[in-house]
Amino acid sequence: MKNYTSIQDVENLDQLVQEAVELKQSPFEHKHLGENKTLGMIFYNPSLRTRLSTQRAGFNLGMNVIVMNIGSDGWALEFEDGAVMNSNKAEHIKEAAEVISQYCDVIAIRTFPELKDRELDYSEPVISAFKKYATAPIVSMESATGHPLQALADLITIEEYKIVEKPKIVLTWAPHPKLLPQAVSNSFVEFMKKSDKVDLVITHPKGYELDSSKTEGVTIEYDQDKAFEGADFIYAKNWSSYENYGQAGEVDYSWMIDEAKMKKTNNGKFMHCLPVRRNVVVADDVMDNKDRNITIQEANNRTYSAQIVLKKILENIT
Ligand code: CP
Repeated sequence: MKNYTSIQDVENLDQLVQEAVELKQSPFEHKHLGENKTLGMIFYNPSLRTRLSTQRAGFNLGMNVIVMNIGSDGWALEFEDGAVMNSNKAEHIKEAAEVISQYCDVIAIRTFPELKDRELDYSEPVISAFKKYATAPIVSMESATGHPLQALADLITIEEYKIVEKPKIVLTWAPHPKLLPQAVSNSFVEFMKKSDKVDLVITHPKGYELDSSKTEGVTIEYDQDKAFEGADFIYAKNWSSYENYGQAGEVDYSWMIDEAKMKKTNNGKFMHCLPVRRNVVVADDVMDNKDRNITIQEANNRTYSAQIVLKKILENIT
């Protein structure tokens, strides 16, 4: 594997999931693979799970790990080619990416969208520039439009908890008071579509359609109750409108997931990438039900999704 910034970097997804499940059984088996190699983790935005699990994944492989909060601690970077840098941007990505590549054998980046200009966000300005100018492999730790490490962890979790060969997975929009990106949902859809082992249904209020190039071929059911019928997994996530990009629309709080809704499922499991707002996105009666809620186990799998990706990249550069 050369880079890991989207589903396009995965050759055989179901095999990658199996390898991650096996890796979880003996996480220190490859503890010498990353010896004398450095993972650089660059954060433009906050994180709990991604930061800790990716560091742990690097340590499990014997890597050294450097973490930089570039948004607060680094020089403001210029991304525009040919820019006259007489304003607040002190360093160009051309130099920064090459310099970081000298210190780090793998560069992982977290960068959220601005949610103002859809075309700009969907061009992935930060990740694309690092891929262009860095000489080290690039891993997305959530970018403007995707969160592939999360989606891989989600698929690992589904593989572990499924009780039927091809489970029904429902991605449901859930309410949230803030404007959130489509990144987690985009990657979730892409990964579920690429896997041969799941049936995906998406449910959301009208006006919250995701990018149709990503959801093409997926059943969309606007009636949340109907979508939940017979579901084996409910994956809740808020996302802001793709169509009315960057605009705060009507938030229908009746879409919150509670135990009454979960009862319509096939004894379904509840998933969410976390962090989650209790009693806004999902009710306490679901979150506190250990038979339903597998979000903690899902978060644990973030280590193994990162570790299998770093292992594949290290195997390619050593
Ligand atoms: N799910 C996830 O990426 O969590 P963090 O934002 O805490 O890293």
